[in-house]
Amino acid sequence: MAMSTRCAIARSKMSLTKCFILLSYFICQLYAVQRDNFKTCEQSSFCKRQRAYQPAQSPYVALEDSLKITSNTIDIQLLNKDNNVRFLLTIFGLQDNMFRIKMNELSPIKERYEIPVGDALKEEPAQQKINFAGKDKDKFVIKMSNHKLLLSLSPFRIDAYTDETPVMSLNSQGLLKFEQMRIKPEAKPPADDSADENGEEANPQEAVENQEEKVKEEKKEDETGMWEETFKTFTDSKPHGPSSIGIDVSFPGFENVYGIPEHADTMALKTTKSTDPYRLFNLDVFEYDLYNPMALYGAVPLMYAHNEDRTVGIFWHNAAETWIDISSNTADKSVFSHIADFVKGNNEIPQTDTHWFSESGVIDVFLLLGPTPRDVFKQYSRLTGTTQLPPLYSLAYHQCRWNYNDQDDVKAVDANFDKFDIPFDVIWLDIEHTDGKKYFTWAHDKFPTPEEMIKNLSVKGRKLVTIVDPHLKREDGYSVYTDARDRGFLIKNKDGNDYEGWCWPGSSSWPDFTNPVVREWWADKFALSEYKGSTPDLIVWNDMNEPSVFNGPEITFHKDVKHYNNFENRDLHNIYGMYVHQATMEGLVKRSGGKERSFVLTRAFFAGSQRYSAVWTGDNIGEWSHLKVSIPMVLSLNLAGITFSGADVGGFFKNPDPELLTRWYQTGAFYPFFRAHAHLDTRRREPYLLPEENIKIVREALRLRYSLLPYYYTLFYQAEEDGLPIFRPLWVDYPKDKDVFKIDDQFLIGSSLLVKPVTDQGQTNVNVYFPGKDNVWYDIDTYQTYDGSMTINVPAPLDKIPVYQKGGSIIARKLRPRRSSSLMYQDPFTLIVCLDKQGKAEGELYVDDYHSFQYKNGDYIHRQFIFNKNTLSSKNIDPKGQFNTREWIEKIIIVGFPNEPKKITIANSSGENSRILGFQYNENNKSLTIRKPGDNIADIWTLVIV
Ligand SMILES: *[C@@H]1O[C@H](CO)[C@@H](O)[C@H](O)[C@H]1NC(C)=O
Ligand SMILES: *[C@@H]1O[C@H](CO)[C@@H](O)[C@H](O)[C@H]1NC(C)=O
Ligand SMILES: *[C@@H]1O[C@H](CO)[C@@H](O)[C@H](O)[C@H]1NC(C)=O
Repeated sequence: MAMSTRCAIARSKMSLTKCFILLSYFICQLYAVQRDNFKTCEQSSFCKRQRAYQPAQSPYVALEDSLKITSNTIDIQLLNKDNNVRFLLTIFGLQDNMFRIKMNELSPIKERYEIPVGDALKEEPAQQKINFAGKDKDKFVIKMSNHKLLLSLSPFRIDAYTDETPVMSLNSQGLLKFEQMRIKPEAKPPADDSADENGEEANPQEAVENQEEKVKEEKKEDETGMWEETFKTFTDSKPHGPSSIGIDVSFPGFENVYGIPEHADTMALKTTKSTDPYRLFNLDVFEYDLYNPMALYGAVPLMYAHNEDRTVGIFWHNAAETWIDISSNTADKSVFSHIADFVKGNNEIPQTDTHWFSESGVIDVFLLLGPTPRDVFKQYSRLTGTTQLPPLYSLAYHQCRWNYNDQDDVKAVDANFDKFDIPFDVIWLDIEHTDGKKYFTWAHDKFPTPEEMIKNLSVKGRKLVTIVDPHLKREDGYSVYTDARDRGFLIKNKDGNDYEGWCWPGSSSWPDFTNPVVREWWADKFALSEYKGSTPDLIVWNDMNEPSVFNGPEITFHKDVKHYNNFENRDLHNIYGMYVHQATMEGLVKRSGGKERSFVLTRAFFAGSQRYSAVWTGDNIGEWSHLKVSIPMVLSLNLAGITFSGADVGGFFKNPDPELLTRWYQTGAFYPFFRAHAHLDTRRREPYLLPEENIKIVREALRLRYSLLPYYYTLFYQAEEDGLPIFRPLWVDYPKDKDVFKIDDQFLIGSSLLVKPVTDQGQTNVNVYFPGKDNVWYDIDTYQTYDGSMTINVPAPLDKIPVYQKGGSIIARKLRPRRSSSLMYQDPFTLIVCLDKQGKAEGELYVDDYHSFQYKNGDYIHRQFIFNKNTLSSKNIDPKGQFNTREWIEKIIIVGFPNEPKKITIANSSGENSRILGFQYNENNKSLTIRKPGDNIADIWTLVIV
């Protein structure tokens, strides 16, 4: 939750000092126009410098004599001719069709920050042999299987090709600009501005500027922003001066680019000619504006470009504030022509140009060469990892509110869900559950017996989440704070003292999670013996971890605060929040002796966050527009590896009416992370408080989600291996269908379900695009069929979610309604077999104990079901897995079956133990329901229809 809540608190004058109330009030006023809180590019000196940079020709040249070749890497020095600064460029060949290009100063006067390996990158990426194939004209040719890089020496430029097709270019627009670390000039720079030993720092405009007077003026202006910068009342001391880096990356042949969450924007990214660049800088932005490039809570500097022929991507491995400009262009065929394999006769080859710039760090770019969507996801997951299979309950429904007031409130909510027969798995407590916003403590008057409260939930298989934020109340009696302080674990301000800022508890300090020792210390705080009142059924939510600092610049840390190893927040801001939730997750796993999978939700995130936590899209609003934008936001997160994500159902702020809340449940039932949440000031809105008709509809939506849990669980299991999005844009599965490239109001869950939620008020029908020329799609409620490659207007009254199962797929569902997912562990499956036009179908099912790490030791079952020529068989697709379960198959529904069969038998794969099965055929909807095949899910069987 964010800032505006402070206004609420100020208004309600809840046990706060007068001073605090006044401060809150002041901030509320200040923040009335919230956009003002956050910098535009114009207000950020490095953004302004980098964005304005447009040399006639790039001054960077590669020095042929410096070339060093090893089997997997190439080193070459670059020279900036304008100031004689030298750089080292290293090119790495990487396994799985990737190149890495790193560039740093050859001899910086201060070490530049690099994200430690193991943090964003899960490990040192495996290298691959590259071939230095000599020189072609003035270009070096570097080959790796069917890919190659052409490195132009003067000006420096790199073009990446797959076969003979150009796919990416670096510095083809000449925007490489690497600000070297330098000694601060004398307080009063001499009027004549002599060149120092590094030569003169050239202003980009200078080269083309003749009037000397003006040159000097511009230069002076620049230096002001370089050594100190103010925003509103905040001064950034910039002790190390300018250090920004930037380069352009072009995608010839590509019209559409995606990724770089988090923005409240369309999935297909827009050009930024008339706006600011897309910004990546983790910030607490409440009631965020929609459809603009402003930064939000998290950052994944990963972009994909996709066209009918291929998908490629770049990963910008940098944790500093980053901006990305996007423009569309036409590919410069003259440059590529002698080698390019452009389609003949096509003069208008589209190109997307992007320009990336960060405030500090080094240039470290990974080129993901695809060529298919599946390949790029795999490539990115090889770099930063995937989401570990979550415990099943975390894929079920979460009920949250700021706040459930006390134990009786929790008990009543829990009881009401049961009374109204609505399933839920997890109830959440926000900041008010603590004693004075001191995390790891309880407000004892309201929560006197938390263990008993949790136990009452766990008998029904339910869990409790408590919030644990990274700001620590500066209070002598608060041991988490004093412990951190005494051990020197707190972040320091620029003068070396413990940094102090305002957050929920008032005056606060923050542990330095960038230090691995601090992370270990934090993890240990979750031990059951340390966290009083916790039990193994208590799990955790990290909020405000951008971090949010109410009285800080842009509501976050000052950029000159000091972290571990003397780096500034400026260098690593975007990864701080990830370290918080990483340490939290590590603590929860450690708590069980490493046996149990756990769950953490985070608001701030970075590349790699997917390895530790689920993410939600922060403080949205209970308005239709926010329901609508949640779809592209969750799609973009999924594209960037953050598969376990969702938006607050109902919207955090304001009061959604029953129609909106109902539609939001129908959409949220498909978010991989499915939680309802609401602000302190909102009216109570648990689903059982809705009008009766709406309760019924929401109950059905929740039951649908619960029935699909085996499918979600199987998808998460697969995604742990292949990194594929779960909540998936259509182009991932239909990469050649241009009509789907921009679709972000409908989505796929895995490959087998297509969903088009209603996101407009009063709407009772929607246009659904059914992808796939030869496909047929089945309405999951009626089995009505729709042919692929068509847009069809379908009725969607309030009780209807347009959801379709793909012909050719088999989905295992659990149809017995229960109060929570753990009560479904032993329930039987129903296989829904939807036939394609050839009468075939297949699907997979993964089963384990649903909560522990035993699956890593082979305790699981992974089955494939194949229907072909009137035979349905179960196959063991992973003989390594073995698991005893009572789960069995109680029903098989074959949809799209042409006529009534005579007889159905099931037998062992070896043909033994053959039995005749009962069935019912429905002519109307061409469905064949087979009763009680009865086999344990572990069995291998074949079912024959004659
Ligand atoms: C736990 O459940 C028991 C039995 O229903 C009830 O008496 C008790 O008040 C509950 N405790 C809490 C803390 O909710
Ligand atoms: C299919 O038709 C039968 C018989 O009319 C009906 O009982 C069943 O509910 C229908 N199934 C669906 C999913 O509409
Ligand atoms: C086949 O059926 C026999 C007899 O019921 C049973 O013992 C055996 O486990 C089955 N084999 C498989 C592979 O399911």
